[in-house]
Amino acid sequence: MSTNSFDVIVIGGGPGGYIAAIRAAQLGFQVACIDEWKNAKGGPAPGGTCTNVGCIPSKALLQSSEHYEQAHHHFADHGIGLKDLSIDVTKMLGRKDTVVKQNNDGILYLFKKNKISFFHGRGAFAGAGEGGYQVTVGEQTLSGKQVIVATGSNARALPGTPFDEESILSNDGALRIGAVPKKLGLIGAGVIGLEMGSVWRRLGAEVTVLEGLPTFLGAVDEQIAKEAHKAFVKQGLKIELGVKVGEIKRGKKGVSVQYTSAKGEAQTLDVDKLIVSIGRVPNTIGLNAEAVGLKLDERGAIVVDDECRTNLPGVWAVGDVVRGPMLAHKAEEEGVAVAERIAGQHGHVNFNTVPWVIYTSPEIAWVGQTEQQLKAAGRAYKAGTFPFLANGRARALGDTTGMVKFLADAATDEILGVHIVGPMASELIAEAVVAMEFRASSEDIARICHAHPSLSEATKEAALAVDKRTLNF
Ligand code: FAD
Ligand code: NAI
Repeated sequence: MSTNSFDVIVIGGGPGGYIAAIRAAQLGFQVACIDEWKNAKGGPAPGGTCTNVGCIPSKALLQSSEHYEQAHHHFADHGIGLKDLSIDVTKMLGRKDTVVKQNNDGILYLFKKNKISFFHGRGAFAGAGEGGYQVTVGEQTLSGKQVIVATGSNARALPGTPFDEESILSNDGALRIGAVPKKLGLIGAGVIGLEMGSVWRRLGAEVTVLEGLPTFLGAVDEQIAKEAHKAFVKQGLKIELGVKVGEIKRGKKGVSVQYTSAKGEAQTLDVDKLIVSIGRVPNTIGLNAEAVGLKLDERGAIVVDDECRTNLPGVWAVGDVVRGPMLAHKAEEEGVAVAERIAGQHGHVNFNTVPWVIYTSPEIAWVGQTEQQLKAAGRAYKAGTFPFLANGRARALGDTTGMVKFLADAATDEILGVHIVGPMASELIAEAVVAMEFRASSEDIARICHAHPSLSEATKEAALAVDKRTLNF
């Protein structure tokens, strides 16, 4: 095999791409991974949106800002007094950048460890021949028997309002605001809107979120969304639902947003910075998909079947660039499954058990179906809830907001959905994912011994609640 010939070429080094490359290498293939992301010095920064401007840096800032919030408002409850509490945003951003770099370096190390050839630059299809596909990167042409496209997604801008990343920000600029703005506006009360809104509110900004839909977090179980909404409003996050955003003007002092409120009144929101978080679009810029006839849909996503096969033999696509939820772990699961299918194995992704987490405080996490989905489907179900208020560990932590909610089939008791709003929901949801993957009943969870005192006891109690036999409530 020539140095530029590979069994598998992966285009894109985000969670979908780099994990696919590692799994393919584990299975004995000669693998190349091409990624174009540059760090501040122009060097390689693999890990994609997730590592550079998504999951990792947002969680770093969520942690820093939560520490500040705790110190500012809650340490006193524990008898801890602080004088001269201050924030150094530059240092906070610097720490976040260090965490990102540790992850970039970790991926470069994993490429080496797994003998994956890494190419820094843009990968573009150049043609197809007998031996597979030609892909250019810079001056080089690689050939690969199989190609996995994992080129991710980009932030969606409002029509006529491009991001300048100074006052009108995508997720990228939202993670680089150099000083706490006095007034911050966000358009879109989705995952990014709530997470980034929380970061800057905790640090002292007056935050207003404008949401187009009349319902708050429509994809989340209604009872859970209501509880979360109550908590966010209490914290001081201003959320306006059912608005219609009109003209957006950028001035010397900031940004002015004209909008119509749910009541039909013309309103103006003046802010120092505006984050636009209205969803993301699949990215195939520069991939030269036309050169090989790779089929895209009307949204620009690569068309794939249930197993991530594109219309071209030997070309696969995974992650944000294809249908399905735009989540790092979904991209990773697809990457692993595709590598295994290339090896003739039966890789599988169970879309019914992909968990969602919103890393606000309280955290929101869920897996499976919501109560409104079960009602709409006419499915007979039983519900059980347990509040963290009645959980000893939550009381000791001083964080009793929220609940765990189980939904189970009325006849078989099989768990159909688990929904959590409250402390460490992101960690607690893993038990529910395992349970659903093994098609457990709520009684199975209710009969398992959970450590005391722990937040996971709320999960057990919510399972008990399905059968109306909670022990501590
Ligand atoms: P990406 O991560 O977008 O990676 C694609 C890579 O391909 C990029 O490095 C890009 O530069 C490169 N590329 C593109 N085209 C080419 C080309 N032609 N040649 C070479 N390289 C190319 N998800 C979660 O599960 N949990 C979270 O907490 C979470 N938080 C998020 C927070 C924010 C602010 C954002 C924006 C997203 C968040 N996400 C989160 C979503 C998550 O980041 C994505 O679902 C995930 O990154 C998708 O992985 P991917 O590999 O498909 O694409
Ligand atoms: P989103 O889809 O979560 O939310 C977008 C929101 O904007 C929706 O509520 C939508 O109704 C609203 N909206 C759309 N157009 C609008 C308009 N013109 N005016 C007012 N409101 C409008 O998208 P978001 O927050 O941009 O995040 C993108 C994706 O990134 C998420 O869907 C998720 O897949 C991923 N992500 C995941 C995270 C996690 O797992 N914790 C964290 C952040 C992002």
